Amino acid sequence: MHQVTEAPREQASEGRGGPSGRPFLASGGGAWHPFAAAVSDAACGVDAPLTVISDVGEVETLDARIFLRGPAAMERWEHLAMERCLGRVLDLGAGAGPHTLFLQEAGLRVTAVDRLAEAVSLMVERGVRDARIGEVTEPPPGPWDTVLLLMNGTMPFETIAGFRLGLARIAAVLVEGGRILVDSTDLRGSDGDDRRSDGRYVGETQYQFRYGRLVGDPVPQLFLDPDRLQEYAGEAGLVAEVIWTGKEGHYLAEITRRQHAP
Ligand SMILES: C[S@@+](CC[C@H](N)C(=O)[O-])C[C@H]1O[C@@H](n2cnc3c(N)ncnc32)[C@H](O)[C@@H]1O
Repeated sequence: MHQVTEAPREQASEGRGGPSGRPFLASGGGAWHPFAAAVSDAACGVDAPLTVISDVGEVETLDARIFLRGPAAMERWEHLAMERCLGRVLDLGAGAGPHTLFLQEAGLRVTAVDRLAEAVSLMVERGVRDARIGEVTEPPPGPWDTVLLLMNGTMPFETIAGFRLGLARIAAVLVEGGRILVDSTDLRGSDGDDRRSDGRYVGETQYQFRYGRLVGDPVPQLFLDPDRLQEYAGEAGLVAEVIWTGKEGHYLAEITRRQHAP
């Protein structure tokens, strides 16, 4: 566990960027402003270390250039997910659009959605043809053949209730035979215990982003184990299958809407 020292809090609503001074818009709530500023700075070529602090005391500092990665820097599971994309694709929580750009380049029709205006502006600057501001729990009508939720794509649903609601809404805009590709991390202990000492589900966490003097408000983030993912998929009339497993509980699942016999 790392020691966290409190930096003087800067109001994100001032609309300042990070060290590059690149302006960014006030949007998406105070929680995500350090993230937005760091990614905007990284896009300007500025060194942009983004610190993520979890409510269990874990502290990780990421180079925000990771959100601008090209296909060569992507991991195997990301390529596996993208290989399964067909037809009209919806990339939810698209960030700076790494997957959207790759699929667009491969000739697919992709719509990218993110809650941050900064992310959407950046996607447009980077060449994304259809980038929209929106919430993962309110997918555009489509219908969609493929929905992508990548880089711990359950996180933006924030809570189990948010995920169940969002998944039901995504199921409603998915064609028969359509699929959702989502990765997440199983945070259960080796004994399968899925509760913390305070009784909360182990994957219902809170994160706080910090970039330079910008400190975001804590935001709930959801990690789901594969058993719950399968259970909630079933509730939404879908079938989930784990198609890849990696280190430390990370996995990729494909959730399909089965085709009815004619
Ligand atoms: C960890 S980044 C991943 C971005 C991208 N999928 C990638 O692989 O680089 C998560 C993204 O989800 C967006 N996000 C978080 N909560 C959201 C929500 N409720 N609705 C839509 N987007 C959300 C954030 O703004 C951020 O761009």
